[in-house]
Amino acid sequence: MAVDSEGRVAGSAAVAVREDALLLLALEVTASHRGKGAGHALLEAARAYGAARRARALEVLAPDEPSALAFFLRTGLSLRTLVLEMTAEVSGLTPGPGTSLHAVSPGASLYGWIAALDRETRGFARPRDWARWAAEGNVVSLKRGGRPVALGAWSTEPDRVALGPIAAKTPEAAADLLPLLVSRARGKRLSLALPAEARTLLLAAVSLGFRAVSTRLLLTDRRRGDLRRYAGGGGRFF
Ligand SMILES: CC(C)(COP(=O)(O)OP(=O)(O)OC[C@H]1O[C@@H](n2cnc3c(N)ncnc32)[C@H](O)[C@@H]1OP(=O)(O)O)[C@@H](O)C(=O)NCCC(=O)NCCS
Repeated sequence: MAVDSEGRVAGSAAVAVREDALLLLALEVTASHRGKGAGHALLEAARAYGAARRARALEVLAPDEPSALAFFLRTGLSLRTLVLEMTAEVSGLTPGPGTSLHAVSPGASLYGWIAALDRETRGFARPRDWARWAAEGNVVSLKRGGRPVALGAWSTEPDRVALGPIAAKTPEAAADLLPLLVSRARGKRLSLALPAEARTLLLAAVSLGFRAVSTRLLLTDRRRGDLRRYAGGGGRFF
């Protein structure tokens, strides 16, 4: 929290540390206090919080808004990927025959391939987040030959159900899981955020009626992970 000389709130920042990544979840300076250094001071405080917890890379999902973008680029961050925010109103979708969706119980081990996959793609593992989503009853898995090939979570928000994240062994498995996740949240307003590289998943989302409503920019000071793993079709544009 930043306060001015009279003790009024000038702005705030929120962060989370996941392995060696510092995620800047929010940064906001009140309009009348902008351009006076509060944003830089909050960002420095956030970096110090991360450094004390051994975080080495800073990441922020910034709005596609010129002044916020300029602010972050000047602090040394660069673009990692474009993230499409999509919404849909989907109803009446039922899983086809032969599809098996399994609830993931709170006690399930989420430290194995899920953590490895998170690390490979996002750049950091988040077993405690997956465990929390499972404890809320909001994680399902898609199995093939008795083994999970994709996991998906969702969060219920006041005005919508936010789908994701999805962790899958192949882009195709992620795309197969998506309609099943949607069918769980039947008849609701849905949202989904996908990296621009996730072509297979993007095509699956569009075929379910999702439309991009805004873009955000994933900025970082250290490139890590490989989001192309989500893409499918060889990722030949990258
Ligand atoms: C983006 C945002 C956080 C920046 O906050 P801010 O308080 O205006 O930022 P600062 O004042 O620290 O820096 C802006 C400019 O003010 C100038 N400035 C004036 N006095 C300054 C001082 N004492 N110290 C540092 N910079 C100062 C600098 O020139 C700086 O320019 P720079 O980016 O080239 O360094 C703010 O505009 C905001 O809340 N935007 C809306 C919400 C948003 O988009 N948040 C980001 C999403 S997570």
